[in-house]
Amino acid sequence: MWHACSDLTECEPRAPDVHDVASEPGKISVTKMGIIGSQRPRRLRRTSAIRRLVRETRLSIDQLLYPMFVVPGSGVEDEIGSMPGQFHRSADRMGDSARAVEALGIQGVLLFGRSATKSPDGSEASDHDGVVQRAIEQIKRAAPELIVCTDVCLCAYTDHGHCGVLHRGMIDNDLSVSRMVEVALSHAQAGADIVAPSDMMDGRVGAIRTVLDAEGFGSISIMAYAAKYASAFYGPFREASDSAPLFGDRHTYQLDPANVREAIREVGLDVAEGADMVMVKPALPYLDVVARVRATYDVPIAAYLVSGEFAAIKAAAARGWLNEEDAALEALTSISRAGADVIITYWAPDVAVWLDKGSGS
Ligand code: PBG
Repeated sequence: MWHACSDLTECEPRAPDVHDVASEPGKISVTKMGIIGSQRPRRLRRTSAIRRLVRETRLSIDQLLYPMFVVPGSGVEDEIGSMPGQFHRSADRMGDSARAVEALGIQGVLLFGRSATKSPDGSEASDHDGVVQRAIEQIKRAAPELIVCTDVCLCAYTDHGHCGVLHRGMIDNDLSVSRMVEVALSHAQAGADIVAPSDMMDGRVGAIRTVLDAEGFGSISIMAYAAKYASAFYGPFREASDSAPLFGDRHTYQLDPANVREAIREVGLDVAEGADMVMVKPALPYLDVVARVRATYDVPIAAYLVSGEFAAIKAAAARGWLNEEDAALEALTSISRAGADVIITYWAPDVAVWLDKGSGS
């Protein structure tokens, strides 16, 4: 309830039965003594309308990409245990889902595949009849305007779960890059608009750009997972994609969480190799990286609020420890404020609904 007042220090929502401290006899009034001055930033926070007027960062549905998981089989639509509200869908279900996503006003999806058979070089990842390739075709048929962005990696397809190809027990950079090129090309051939290599091998952006151009896909964009950290926050995703490494970890290719100069170097290399957009991932523990990349490069920046960040807030909300909508909107707004143009989030469909009803105080 708002109480009319002329003195801004007093203008607060208040319950009628609150004891009025200012009217106590003998109370010291700093206002009357003139010791506060005229700088009162709270004036612009007084009402919801004023706060909206001067808000510096506006989250928009236009800036969101929605990650979706495609699995083998047909007629599959199963909720992912570690990611409440997210689904495994077979390619044949993707057309309907794409129409639903488009109807919410979301501009694009980011596709991840799960393989039927794993192999040393993840051959299914570049199969023209693979789940992602078939899903792209279904989506493009159902919702041609919806942006289809694809994750280019091998981890869900290799029998060892690493993002690249092994040679003498080590991840071989250049052999892996050759495979990324094949995967990216197969996605472009199926109709993808943007390919997003997430393997973190050196030189893959330049190699993919060269081959896409040579094969007549010069207008297909590359969104490079440029600053992808070796993070603990990918846990739920690895369960969803069945992509956890069987031995070792990803520290020899993904970035050390302690480094920011190295991230700037990685982004610079990807931009020089022809990346149209660069990504920082995860998002919330790396907002300083987003801000540094923003200050250093002029290409569009994407930030990915990953599965573990999503699941952590979901789990706390399920226990009643925080409000999911408020926490999600605050987190996503902070990513935009840090300088990201594009935000990749599992909350995209919820945000469409939340923003539509005018959320935000
Ligand atoms: C594949 C890939 C991962 C994610 C996106 N692409 C997992 C990983 O690197 O282990 C994580 C996405 C998420 O956690 O939401 N390389």
